[in-house]
Amino acid sequence: MKILVARSVEEWNRHAADIVQEAMQGAAEPVLGLATGNTPLGMYKELVRRHSAEGLDFSTTRTFNLDEYLGIAVEHPGSYHTYMKEQLFDHVNIDLSRTHLPKPNPESPEDEAARFSQLLEQYGPCDLQVLGIGTNGHIGFNEPGTSFSAKTAVVELAESTIQANAPVFGTDPESMPTHAITMGIAEIMTARKILLLANGASKADIMKLALQGPVTEDVPASVLQRHPNVVVLCDEAAASHLSKA
Ligand code: PGA
Repeated sequence: MKILVARSVEEWNRHAADIVQEAMQGAAEPVLGLATGNTPLGMYKELVRRHSAEGLDFSTTRTFNLDEYLGIAVEHPGSYHTYMKEQLFDHVNIDLSRTHLPKPNPESPEDEAARFSQLLEQYGPCDLQVLGIGTNGHIGFNEPGTSFSAKTAVVELAESTIQANAPVFGTDPESMPTHAITMGIAEIMTARKILLLANGASKADIMKLALQGPVTEDVPASVLQRHPNVVVLCDEAAASHLSKA
């Protein structure tokens, strides 16, 4: 596992975008696993800048997002469909038919999870999977206690996840979804390379536990210690509790 600690926001954004760009340029039809949340925002901004300033080409890239809420419309401002459109898809030359997210309002959530899993099997594995980490150690919406052998599934969000993400849903906390569809840990682990992103002091404890503590299903991100090709990119605050190798 390689751990990069960026000294500035610009350096962090550059490193993150470099790793994505390298994966895109390393395959004729690259497959990217993408994450949402606050952490990757600067990475997407830099990728969009590279597309417009340097012609970074997305036309043959296929993407799979880690997760999507259940019980809201695709167009809801808090949906990850909206996030991806706003942060990346609307600004680059990606073919939307090659972008895959679970649907937030399917007739049968279980069937939708199975459809997504099947697509991943068909087009995967991802050349690069980008991950954030929850303060409870979740990756995707695989909350503590999730089996390492899980595939894409309907899941209930942990209370801490609801608290952390509720601001996106505005002043009405009741409107925050309680369930989601998430790519499973077993599928995340099939990626050829994983980029784990973390920023801020609120992630320092969980980064220490996940990367340097025991590998346990109680800390979903600890499974990454078993993956042969992980790059961790964090700022100084998120790295502050890690011991030097
Ligand atoms: P964040 O979320 O990037 O908004 O901190 C990370 C996560 O919950 O995976």
